[in-house]
Amino acid sequence: MSHLDPHRDPGTGLTIRSMVESDIDSVMMIASLLPTAPQWSRGAYETAISADGIPKRIALAAEYSGELKGFVIARFLYSLAEIETLGVDVSAQRNGIGTSLLVAALDELRLAGVDEVELEVRPSNERAWRLYERIGFSEVGRRRGYYREPVEDAILLRLGLARQAFPQGLKPR
Ligand SMILES: CC(C)(COP(=O)(O)OP(=O)(O)OC[C@H]1O[C@@H](n2cnc3c(N)ncnc32)[C@H](O)[C@@H]1OP(=O)(O)O)[C@@H](O)C(=O)NCCC(=O)NCCS
Repeated sequence: MSHLDPHRDPGTGLTIRSMVESDIDSVMMIASLLPTAPQWSRGAYETAISADGIPKRIALAAEYSGELKGFVIARFLYSLAEIETLGVDVSAQRNGIGTSLLVAALDELRLAGVDEVELEVRPSNERAWRLYERIGFSEVGRRRGYYREPVEDAILLRLGLARQAFPQGLKPR
């Protein structure tokens, strides 16, 4: 588990912090209303926030006015990481929360010594795809028939963190 010092953006009132066990109900509720987010079991989230899992993970939560609004989880082994899940409450989307979560996760990964981050996205998930490309991810391949329900290819995206986390100088709003 990562130990991100809670970071509250005075401009937006958004706090990004490490996910804790008491967040899991809210995270599962948010994810259940997001058809393009993976539906993890409680045990999977518990593993993600435990300190001794291998591969290691960082799990962050975004909180606004005391309410959980989004989450991101990445796993990493040595210098390679994968963004496993990212979700923002339907009612809170398009406010920069997804970008803030991803930027914070990339910062954490870079501090942990990661220099390359990968993720898969459905081609039909244009919102997420655009977000990743804005942050600097680029397409490096496709995985045929990777997704189920509905069956769809996956676009494989990659971002190098070696030079800087934000190649386009992007910062959360
Ligand atoms: C993908 C996802 C995490 C993005 O979260 P989000 O909080 O809406 O992301 P952001 O607000 O940072 O950016 C999304 C859009 O809002 C826009 N936006 C951000 N802040 C804004 C603001 N203050 N005013 C208006 N628009 C804004 C961004 O420009 C972006 O626009 P675009 O979609 O036209 O490119 C969210 O849509 C989600 O949970 N999707 C379902 C789960 C999912 O698909 N996860 C990814 C699996 S690979």
